[in-house]
Amino acid sequence: MENFNIPEHVAIILDGNGRWAKKRFMPRTFGHKNGADNVVDICLYAKERGVKYVSLYAFSTENWKRPDEEVGYLMKLIIKFLNDKLRILMNENCKVQFLGNLDILPEATKQICLDTIGKTRNNDGITLNIALNYGGRAELVHAYQKMIEDGVRKEDINEELISSYLYTKGQPDPDLLIRPGGELRLSNFLIYQLAYAELYFTDTLWPDFTRESFDEALEEFARRNRRYGGLS
Ligand code: IPE
Ligand code: IPE
Ligand code: MG
Repeated sequence: MENFNIPEHVAIILDGNGRWAKKRFMPRTFGHKNGADNVVDICLYAKERGVKYVSLYAFSTENWKRPDEEVGYLMKLIIKFLNDKLRILMNENCKVQFLGNLDILPEATKQICLDTIGKTRNNDGITLNIALNYGGRAELVHAYQKMIEDGVRKEDINEELISSYLYTKGQPDPDLLIRPGGELRLSNFLIYQLAYAELYFTDTLWPDFTRESFDEALEEFARRNRRYGGLS
């Protein structure tokens, strides 16, 4: 596949881990483990293809509704993931950022997130945004609260200013959203930033999502005609 019309920013909803495990008569946590194992490979491939930003939906503000055992497993899995992958992420010049409020995460999970931000902050090969305790509506609430705190005046509010109060400040909006797992919804992911993204849905479950699956999404993206409301 040639390098034409590559999205600068790709957002991915990491969905389908539980069903992947269920199909194998295994606990849902087994699916999460296999899903996590897939993350770096797809990100490195995205980098290889020329993508500059990847945003991954890893844990939503709504996912706290799940059983304590599953939530606890996911919080520990994040620690293991960041510990295990730091070296390769550094070698690949990958900057890791988090989207969402880290303050209410378990202390050890929050700490490793902050450490990872610090250690990767000067990398500029690709930016990896991990959405953790992220919700698009909560992000907007946080942004508006912060604006008021900063004394922003009504006449200063515009779309750029709102963008600058979001967790993705300074980054381009996603061009392409990929949702594996077969559901046709956003589930509160980047609702402001995805306003003009191309949406790509596939039934493939996240742990089965391969480099070839990513290429299929890129090919579909390259075929889309982005009019932004204009003609052509
Ligand atoms: C996505 O997989 C991972 C998280 C939400 C943390 P799911 O756990 O939602 O898997 P399914 O959708 O139940 O298969
Ligand atoms: C979206 O998946 C959230 C993440 C992948 C982190 P969910 O499985 O939570 O979404 P719903 O419940 O199907 O909308
Ligand atoms: Mg799901």
